[in-house]
Amino acid sequence: MSVVAATAEFIVTIDGPAGTGKSTVAHRLARRLGLEFLDTGAMYRAAALRALETGIDPSDGDRVAALVRDLEIRFDWRRDPPELLVDGDAVGERIRTQEVTRAVSAVASNPSVRAAMVEAQREIASLHPRLVTEGRDQGSVVFPDAHVRIYLDARPEVRARRRVEQLATKGIIISESEVLAQIIARDHMDSSRRDGPLVCPKGADVVDTSDIDIDLVIDRLEEIVRARAGSALRGPFGGAGAP
Ligand code: DC
Repeated sequence: MSVVAATAEFIVTIDGPAGTGKSTVAHRLARRLGLEFLDTGAMYRAAALRALETGIDPSDGDRVAALVRDLEIRFDWRRDPPELLVDGDAVGERIRTQEVTRAVSAVASNPSVRAAMVEAQREIASLHPRLVTEGRDQGSVVFPDAHVRIYLDARPEVRARRRVEQLATKGIIISESEVLAQIIARDHMDSSRRDGPLVCPKGADVVDTSDIDIDLVIDRLEEIVRARAGSALRGPFGGAGAP
């Protein structure tokens, strides 16, 4: 899989646990820097959604692995953010439901699923080599040689509050204590799994977002990226991007 190192022009990875604002931050940072954006959590969510839709128990490792082998997961890069298509079907917000959120850790801890996703992500990067990619193993496993590796963190209580607010905007009402319990359980599962556990990548810049407004987080990340990028970020897309 050294293909990526040879072809990647500029990769920024953003790792970290749920509720640190990774997706929003990564997407906005990508726009500012004129880079493309990859939401790898969406790929795992898509696999979990299909398992639920086809009546497969998400913790049935063999059946989930077989399902993912036959699944076509790709993005429509003409959309911003890129639209996720599973077997040609735009899954939209169906991957963000509580049911999928509950099922996804089991799917994401399946080694065959992870291997398939890692391969797919490296292939995406070879076709979209100027990329901000977010997900918990992007800097630690998938792109350890990325130009910039960032680890976003936040206190669990803050992450739970954010998740509740985010879900409320989608009409999903759930208590903070329930979300906090889910977050703690997911953190534990994600950091204790054997394959691609949640860890801070070597040499990553750590940014704690607990007490900083999202705009300031993005300013801070832009500073980090520009400072670390050197000439790698210059070129046709390296100038001032969209806000
Ligand atoms: O970031 P998210 O909540 O959309 O991620 C969904 C799940 O997928 C979550 O349990 C973490 C897992 N995940 C992963 O294991 N590796 C990634 N690169 C991205 C997400």
